[in-house]
Amino acid sequence: MVIGRRRVFSVPMLRRALLHVEGEIRWHESMAPHTSLHVGGQADVVVIPADVEDVVRVVRGARMENIPLTVLGGTNVIIRDKGIRGIVMQLQQLTMIHQESNQLIYAQAGVRLPRLMQFALSRKLSGMEWAAGIPGTVGGGVVMNAGTRLGEMQDVLQAVDLVTIRGIRKRVEASRLSFTYRKTSLPKGIVVGAWLQFTSAAKGAIKSVTKPYLQYRKVTQPLTLPNAGSVFKNPAGDSAGRLIEAAGLKGWRIGDAEVSTKHANFIVNNGAATAEQVLMLVRKVREQVVRKFGVRLQLEWKVIGEK
Ligand code: EPU
Repeated sequence: MVIGRRRVFSVPMLRRALLHVEGEIRWHESMAPHTSLHVGGQADVVVIPADVEDVVRVVRGARMENIPLTVLGGTNVIIRDKGIRGIVMQLQQLTMIHQESNQLIYAQAGVRLPRLMQFALSRKLSGMEWAAGIPGTVGGGVVMNAGTRLGEMQDVLQAVDLVTIRGIRKRVEASRLSFTYRKTSLPKGIVVGAWLQFTSAAKGAIKSVTKPYLQYRKVTQPLTLPNAGSVFKNPAGDSAGRLIEAAGLKGWRIGDAEVSTKHANFIVNNGAATAEQVLMLVRKVREQVVRKFGVRLQLEWKVIGEK
């Protein structure tokens, strides 16, 4: 949640908060289709801002009415079955991308990482190869310092385009931020875009990294079933997938939620899984890994919404 603490609010309050918004507004929207694992209850209201000025309007409106505002990427998040109170904002219309100078690209938060990679490749720019196959967005990638063993967002991020919780647009230099494993410490606000620094390279050299990497993911990860990426962070010096498999948990199921038989650090939805089943499975996996190896796995997913 970005702002807003009011627990009880009325529809007129929500309407007032969104009065000047120009983008799309959807009431009582089921969130399951908006997440890659396809679980989660309804949001009171979903707003899809038309542009950055619209993001500012949403922030100011939510602030004025003190209504909770949640920004949703959707690929690394589990929404509980009772959904989300207040306003959910999705930045999928912020899809502008351009080459600002020779090796600098500006991309809005809603740009999908595969599109950014394609854009960079077509201009012979190297730097995002690590992201091959990650389905998330630039905004989500910045917030969680997305990465793989080949690299992470921090390596290319030059500056962040941010709308503060007061509704002021601000450029924040990456040199003023701190990055850790899957986390960027940002000032409170909403990432609406990012400036990314690349280096020049031959197309063939870029592809020689991404191609085998994509192939590796295809072979080792359950990409054809709904999933939310790696469930747990890798513990220092080990891998969550190895530990979960060694604990004998591949194929464990609760309802339609299943520890993938292909990659143990994925949970897949075989059709009608609920968030509760998924989270129960997470707890079971955690318990077993602690019992067998004494390692307490940390969630990579973000869990939001009402219990
Ligand atoms: N392993 C097993 N059993 C399994 C799965 C993996 O023993 O069921 C072993 C593998 O044999 C390997 C090790 O665990 O020795 C690591 O597995 P893998 O190479 O698949 O990588 P990972 O650490 O599980 C990370 C990222 C992925 C990224 C891959 C690609 C994290 C938490 N995950 O996975 O990112 O795609 O590398 O290299 O760092 C994501 O973050 O959502 C994500 C998918």
